[in-house]
Order: sequence, then structure tokens, then C-alpha cells
Amino acid sequence: MKNPGLLALAIVFIMTGVLGLTVFTWFAGKRMTEDRTVPMMDMMMGKGVMNKGQMKERMKSMMPGMLPPGVKPENLPESDSRVAKLLTRYCAQCHDLPSPFMHSGEEWPAIAGRMFFRMSMMSGMQGMSMMDIENPSAKERDAIVGYLKKHAMKSISTSELPAPGSEGAVLFSERCSQCHSLPNPKLHTAEEWPGVVERMQANMRTMGRTVITENEKKTVTGFLLNQARK
Ligand code: HEC
Ligand code: HEC
Repeated sequence: MKNPGLLALAIVFIMTGVLGLTVFTWFAGKRMTEDRTVPMMDMMMGKGVMNKGQMKERMKSMMPGMLPPGVKPENLPESDSRVAKLLTRYCAQCHDLPSPFMHSGEEWPAIAGRMFFRMSMMSGMQGMSMMDIENPSAKERDAIVGYLKKHAMKSISTSELPAPGSEGAVLFSERCSQCHSLPNPKLHTAEEWPGVVERMQANMRTMGRTVITENEKKTVTGFLLNQARK
């Protein structure tokens, strides 16, 4: 090219074009991703990226009466073990930390399976940065289920109950199997049972189940005291 001025002009022209295109693509790309994720996120979670604290609050308002009440990590059995820490890490992401005592060894695998399924579904959305749900590996899942089963509630079937037709046994079977299978009366001593029944009455309120009345509580506690571990 003979004219250096014209060359400079051409270069500037091309550069502006490239820059313009880059800026345009960037905006368009951003808009596209936003268009894809934002309405879905708004619909599911309210505005913004969710952290775990917000997630638990949202869950509690969306699923009243379905989430387990929490225990403190230091009150878990073998609280310093690696697997107790796995439970605290993975199982308190959407609701408070569940107690392994809440369910029998027969119940846990299916319940844990339902929770693992949720975690894999929701951690799949991590790429879209909606929430930061962590998903345990297969090994970690096995360890968690093993731990839950090891410390599970010792349950009993209605037919194995002593004096199965008595008022106490019937009320106990009805009221105390709403959330978990029927606990074995030998699990606690006569000193311990009243406090446990008291706490369960509170659990019934939190979890929106039929709450045991004061009279029923007397009957059930009476039954448990008779059958308690000596
Ligand atoms: C991704 C969110 C999420 C995580 C993580 C999660 N849960 Fe849940 N959990 C829920 C929801 C939602 C419910 C209520 C609906 C239901 O019971 O399936 C629930 C309910 C429960 C309940 C009460 C229902 C019942 O059948 O007793 C227990 C117990 C429970 N979870 C245990 C666990 C354990 C153990 C883990 C870890 C292995 C865990 N959860 C991890 C979402 C989660
Ligand atoms: C509303 C649901 C619900 C009902 C109904 C319920 N429980 Fe529970 N139960 C729980 C939860 C949650 C846990 C684990 C957390 C805890 O221990 O409070 C649990 C744990 C237990 C445990 C194991 C922990 C321990 O302290 O030994 C026993 C035993 C028990 N329940 C007995 C009972 C009895 C007896 C009744 C009837 C009076 C009853 N439950 C009714 C929710 C319930």
C-alpha cells in the first residue's frame, strides 16, 4: 500500500470491528446464560445464588413438618470419627443434622438412598452456580450408611410387645410409630423414658404430626416404665 495514512486507517477500522464483535459476543453470551438460568433459579430458590444457610431456611418454609429436627455434631455417637464428620458434612446441607438414632437399621438404607439421589440431582446444578450442594462419593455413601445402621434405633414389632392389647401398648404403637419404627421399650431405663417422651412430644410439634396429649403421655409413659430396661 502506497499511502501509510490509509493503511493506519484500515488497521484502526479492522481493530474496531474485532473489538466490537468481541464486546457484542460477550454481551450476547452473558445474556444467553442469564436468560437460561435466572428465571429457573428465581422460580426454584428466589433471587440470587443460595448458600447452605439460606437453603435450609428455604427448605424449612417449603417442607414444613418433613425435615428432621437437628442434633449437635458433638452429640453424635463416635463424634470424633471420620464417618461422623461425613454425616455432618453431607447430611446437614439442606436441613439440620439428623440423628442416627432416629431410624432402625432396616429403615436407613432407603432413606439415605433418597437423600443421596437428591444430592446428586442438586450438585449437578453446581455448574450453573445455583447452590453448592456437595455429593458424597460411592465410598463415602457406604461409610455413611454403615454408620447409620451401626447406631440405628433398636426397634420392635407391635406383635412382639408385651401386653399387646393393653391401652398403653396400643397408644404407644400408634403415637410412637408416626416418624420411625416402634422403639424397643428396653432401650431406656425408667429414669430415662419420661425425658425421651417429653422430647418426642416436642418432635411431634416440630414435625407436624399428631401430638400426644398430656393424658396419652401419662398412659404411654406408664407403659414404658413397666417395660423399661432394669
Ligand atoms: C439436597 C438436600 C438434602 C440433603 C443433602 C439431605 N437431605 Fe434429608 N431431607 C431432604 C428433604 C427435602 C427432606 C423432606 C422430604 C423427605 O423426607 O424425603 C428430607 C428429610 C429427611 C429426613 C426425615 C424424613 C424421614 O423419612 O425420616 C431424614 C431422617 C433425613 N432427611 C436424613 C438425611 C440424611 C441421613 C442425609 C445425609 C445422608 C440427608 N438427609 C441429606 C433433603 C436433604
Ligand atoms: C414427630 C416424629 C416423631 C414421633 C411421633 C416420635 N419420634 Fe421418636 N424420634 C424422632 C426424632 C426426630 C428422633 C431423633 C432425634 C431425637 O432423639 O430427638 C427420634 C428418636 C427416638 C429415639 C432414639 C433416641 C433416644 O433418645 O433413645 C427413641 C427411643 C424414640 N424416638 C422414642 C419415641 C417414642 C417413645 C415416641 C412416642 C411417645 C416417639 N419416639 C415418637 C421423631 C419422632
